[in-house]
Amino acid sequence: MAPAEMLSLCLLVVLAAASASAQEINNRFPDGFMLGYATAAYQVEGAWNEDGKGESIWDHMLHEHPEWGWNGQNGDVACDSYHKYADDVECLVNASADAYRFSISWPRILPTGDLDNINQAGIDYYNNLINLLLANNIQPLVTMYHWDLPQALQYIGGWPNPIMADYFVEYARLLFDTYGDRVKWWITFNEPSVFAGGYASTGGQAPAQNAVGIGDYLTYYTVINAHARVWHLYNDTYRATQQGYVGITLNSDWAEPLNASSPTDQEASERSLQFGLGAFGHALFTAEGDWPPVMRERIDANSAAEGRPRSRLPTFTQQEIEYNRGTTDFIGINTYGTGLVTLGETGSIPSFAHDQGVIASRDPSWVVGSSGYVYMVPWGFRKLMNWVSNTYPQYPIIVTENGFSDLGETQDDQRISYHGHYLAELLNAINIDGNNVIGYMAWSIIDNLEWGQGFRPRWGVFKVDTDDPNLPRSPKASSEFMGNIYTTRTVPLEYFNSTRTT
Ligand code: BGC
Repeated sequence: MAPAEMLSLCLLVVLAAASASAQEINNRFPDGFMLGYATAAYQVEGAWNEDGKGESIWDHMLHEHPEWGWNGQNGDVACDSYHKYADDVECLVNASADAYRFSISWPRILPTGDLDNINQAGIDYYNNLINLLLANNIQPLVTMYHWDLPQALQYIGGWPNPIMADYFVEYARLLFDTYGDRVKWWITFNEPSVFAGGYASTGGQAPAQNAVGIGDYLTYYTVINAHARVWHLYNDTYRATQQGYVGITLNSDWAEPLNASSPTDQEASERSLQFGLGAFGHALFTAEGDWPPVMRERIDANSAAEGRPRSRLPTFTQQEIEYNRGTTDFIGINTYGTGLVTLGETGSIPSFAHDQGVIASRDPSWVVGSSGYVYMVPWGFRKLMNWVSNTYPQYPIIVTENGFSDLGETQDDQRISYHGHYLAELLNAINIDGNNVIGYMAWSIIDNLEWGQGFRPRWGVFKVDTDDPNLPRSPKASSEFMGNIYTTRTVPLEYFNSTRTT
């Protein structure tokens, strides 16, 4: 064969192989997979004191300390979704969502946190939102608690006080009674390890109570007990008639061993995930229940070394261990990035960071979002899905948040790249690795108030023009991109190309 002929034959073989492997990629979401967007009440609703709403710990903190909000911004108005929720639903329709995860503001319907005062205007607001979603064939996924505790309950100590579980169960009962005929997906808590930080910090996270290494673990304990009680309540009293599902949303970056072949870096990865997801997952999703053994051992040892007569990590009774384990219908996961981890001394004494003893770093080549902690590392997402599936194999997973922050570009190419690559890795986790993931909620449908970072980082596939008092919504390029994926239920093949780069 002449060299030219040889070359063209080789080329043909290469092209044929490439198109065969392209065809082998399964870029389609399974039937019934939920594709939607997420928000949270404090970040979008505004109307902080309208129509009988009570004050939340975020209202309170950012009013007392405007300097803790970027440019003094707070959630008093946010995106004004309390008045403009129909605009939000229109955005969801335009971005082809079949699900919407939003949260209920506890103080909007129970201004004191208790049943002594049920605010009908608040009840009506969520009825209207739910009905409008359903009229547009959008499934509501409702978070009961996304960080806005009624301030009245903070006055009796907030989450470190175990009595908070009683208040939460009564609030949940009201939600099931009021909305459970139409809401089939319930999430008790959003990211408890993050809001527990409000009891271990001097700012940044409400209510900014500085009981570091103690208040955070007491919060964990209350939240685990409260979640389990709400799941049992639903299971015993509502499931037969309402036929829905109750889960919890936990957050985690993927923890990649800094040196993949180092046993101690592998230990750092497992320890990091057990202190993060496992702090709740071990008690709620495993057959043994209770804290992960590594947390129990390290926090007990550190507490003793600090000269304390008791551990800073509370102890579950045997009855609680048994009652709490196996109490979820699905696992909600929020994830934004990846860290490279190694064992090491870090954090103040006492603190979660010191107890965990893991140091995380990032590869300088990773693209970082404007909020400063979201890193574009799609392969880490696939590994995280595998870890959750392998560690808690009996439960389906819903990705309840995932997204990228920029500075508000309308042609938001970085967001497009992020979602394209992350969704491709999610499909690999489902279609190749066999993980049982049943939904994906992008954060977020509209730009919204990023807590203390205000409106500086932008997360929406729709822009909210915060310079215009009417806060109009308008599409960014990503809304069309996501809309195409959500309508065709496939991810373009060109996004199936990410590999570990370090
Ligand atoms: C929270 C959201 C937040 C998002 C982006 C999550 O930790 O649940 O409220 O806006 O991350 O930072």
